[in-house]
Amino acid sequence: MRESFQRWPNNLATGLTVLFLCLSVFPTFCHGVSAKENQTVYLTCSTGKRIVIHSAEYRGAKSCTPGEAKAWVAKRCRKKNTCTFQVHNRYFGDPCFGHHKKLFVVYGCGNGE
Ligand SMILES: *[C@@H]1O[C@H](CO)[C@@H](O)[C@H](O)[C@H]1NC(C)=O
Repeated sequence: MRESFQRWPNNLATGLTVLFLCLSVFPTFCHGVSAKENQTVYLTCSTGKRIVIHSAEYRGAKSCTPGEAKAWVAKRCRKKNTCTFQVHNRYFGDPCFGHHKKLFVVYGCGNGE
């Protein structure tokens, strides 16, 4: 199951596109969360399930290229049942200086090996 996700292009237009594709293929395996800069984001899976990160983008204005946040979020949340952290430039850099930003995460809940 996980391989199918990894074959997807890394840079699909938005986290929402990834979530839509994910839901269309694995309806029970996909969750999307977003949080604004400096807010706290919460990822949770049901009991016994573990987080698998599909995509994480840190987006500002349309004119700015989204920042790739997947590596950081995956390292932080991988194989955990719940995961929480602050959305902050110190983790993801600043992909859009002078604009408000938002983090979009698409994840699944797997059996977690
Ligand atoms: C987020 O917090 C930093 C300080 O850590 C601050 O400089 C920045 O303006 C804040 N951004 C927003 C959108 O509140």
